[in-house]
Amino acid sequence: AERRLRRMLEHLVAPQLSTVSLDRSVCLSQTANANAAQEDVVYVPGDFARKSLISSRSQYEELYNEAIADPNAFWGRVAAGYFWQKLWDTSKPICNYNFDADKGPVFVEWFKGGYTNVCYNALDRHVLAGHGHQMCFLWEGNDPGQNAYLTYSDVLKKVCQVANFLRARGVKKGDRVCIYMSMICELPIAMLACARIGAVHSVVFGGFSSESLAGRILDCQAKVLLTCSGGRRANKVLPLKQIVDDALQICLKEGNFRVETCLVYDNSFAIPRQNVPWVQGRDVWWQETISQFSVDSPVEWMEAEEPLFMLYTSGSTGKPKGLIHTVGGYMVYAGLTFKHAFDHQAGDIFWCTADCGWITGHTYVAYGPLLNRATSVIFEGVPTFPDAGRWWQIIDKYQVSILYAAPTAIRTLAAQGDEIVRKYSRKSLRLLGSVGEPISPKTWQWFYDVVGDSRCPIVDTWWQTETGGCMIFSLPGAWPMKPGCASLPFFGVQPVILDQEGKEQHGPCEGYLCIKAPWPGVARTVFGDHERYENTYFKTWKGLYTTGDGCRRDADGFIWITGRVDDVLNVSGHRISTGEVEGALVSHPLCTEAAVVGYDHEVKGQAIYAFVSLSHDATPSDALKKQLQDAVRKQIGAFAAPDVIHWAVGLPKTRSGKIMRRILRKIAARQFNDIGDTSSLADPSVVDQLIKGM
Ligand code: PRX
Repeated sequence: AERRLRRMLEHLVAPQLSTVSLDRSVCLSQTANANAAQEDVVYVPGDFARKSLISSRSQYEELYNEAIADPNAFWGRVAAGYFWQKLWDTSKPICNYNFDADKGPVFVEWFKGGYTNVCYNALDRHVLAGHGHQMCFLWEGNDPGQNAYLTYSDVLKKVCQVANFLRARGVKKGDRVCIYMSMICELPIAMLACARIGAVHSVVFGGFSSESLAGRILDCQAKVLLTCSGGRRANKVLPLKQIVDDALQICLKEGNFRVETCLVYDNSFAIPRQNVPWVQGRDVWWQETISQFSVDSPVEWMEAEEPLFMLYTSGSTGKPKGLIHTVGGYMVYAGLTFKHAFDHQAGDIFWCTADCGWITGHTYVAYGPLLNRATSVIFEGVPTFPDAGRWWQIIDKYQVSILYAAPTAIRTLAAQGDEIVRKYSRKSLRLLGSVGEPISPKTWQWFYDVVGDSRCPIVDTWWQTETGGCMIFSLPGAWPMKPGCASLPFFGVQPVILDQEGKEQHGPCEGYLCIKAPWPGVARTVFGDHERYENTYFKTWKGLYTTGDGCRRDADGFIWITGRVDDVLNVSGHRISTGEVEGALVSHPLCTEAAVVGYDHEVKGQAIYAFVSLSHDATPSDALKKQLQDAVRKQIGAFAAPDVIHWAVGLPKTRSGKIMRRILRKIAARQFNDIGDTSSLADPSVVDQLIKGM
């Protein structure tokens, strides 16, 4: 396998780009006005721009305008690049929709009447065209020295075997299959196997607790669960199968629901087989069982609007929503955004560091790269193990040319200094990407100067679980970049910025970010609760998709994402609901009330600050703080545990009983002189008490 990899790399090494040192100008164009002149602008290195797929703003504008003026022609052309067993109904508009809840149910349809299969387009299409020998996944385990390399043919065979196994266990089109695994190749393989047979996968991030996993299994009534014995992250072992067993117990007790089959990949790197808990009759070992199945498996042709997968995400209130993405639109959007956001070209080695448990991993580890016949790196571990040079070592080892990562990890590595980065060549890199949270100009500049040696553009991509793929991003090579700015919408995406009253603003402005019309990748519904989908995304502002983010538009028309405008937190790029954390805290018998806000954090971007009121017989103590944090770990996952617990005698509430989080945010940020108007509070003295309690 090592030899195979070396041979493959000889062919695939990205073109060497000469180092161009940039003039950092202060204005974007000759005509830029005073507003834009205050922002730094970084020109795309000339060599990159010359070779990029889209190399000017005018070329972008032509395609952007076409996608809006003539979606039938634009998206029809893109979709025709895939195999359709039956073409969509070309006598009707390629997209049919209603975004106005007052006019009837909200719905979105793309490529209606067409039949295709995402797995076929991601694998069979390439193998049948003679590219089966091309590397698909270059897997790097948690510990250096652990690797696995799979070609497109290898992946197809493994996918077929899992697909056949699922069929043999009675899984049919439309059935839900839950996947709870660490970042091993079998995770995307499991997803593709579901896609092949038309089963709807629901991947749950391996950092979620057994209670969270149980909630998701119950909600989607998963027929089969695919997992692995355990995972490794740095020196930690994740007992995934144990967590699964606990979750399935909860499902039985609380929902009287039994998962019929649990397929367990024996990940002996993490946990020895004899230590894995086992339920006879339900559990089966992956390696032994799967090898008995045929490496051929027929494809289930799916109507474009049938579901491909569901993925749970947190909103401001209530339990997580299982967003549904559908076959045709998601495939076309994931494929096209991958190609352009990353300027993907033959020879690239792509590495998205996200976990498949999040949407970034779905679209840019599993589907987008494979739909474009890319070769990608999958990494199981963490950036700082065994030391902070791991990412740079992996880049050199696999000659990675495109690195797509989250600002929180970039900040962690920046804090380790430049020396460890410079120990590695990183010459293969030609493009860097950022996702999940705003990247500050300082972090952007470090990423650009140190990691990319001022030679690789940075594509800052704004999007969401709901959007399926990148929506607003600095299309690499097409225009100069502004550090920290997502910039312009992708083809067909029509952002609208509203003021407080919901009036559309034009020109430079700041306000609520909404989207006017559907793009192919938009989620179609919330599993089992279409009303919640309508209420969450389409009722706030009439006829528009509400993103939940705020933004600013500058004089160049560039969009700067300013962050969530609702009660959703973004901790280390993980989307967390304040309501869910509060729910976990008040489940502790001594906690009577809790209010959670975010505060700025050097590395995590945002950290969680919890104001907690205790029952009269409780005594505040460090032990109690730990119990409360543990309650959140248990109910959601360790990543959601509050960093600060502030004992609160009372909470600032309006006379109607609404907690004023605005005030709590100021207290958490220690901005005591900027608390603002407290006259509408039922008891304004609460604020002083809270400040005294700091
Ligand atoms: O607030 C925005 C932030 O992440 C939210 C979406 O989170 P999730 O559904 O978990 O998907 C994350 C990965 C696509 C958004 O509402 N966000 C995402 N990307 C950016 C961002 N904020 C600023 N800049 C970004 N590039």
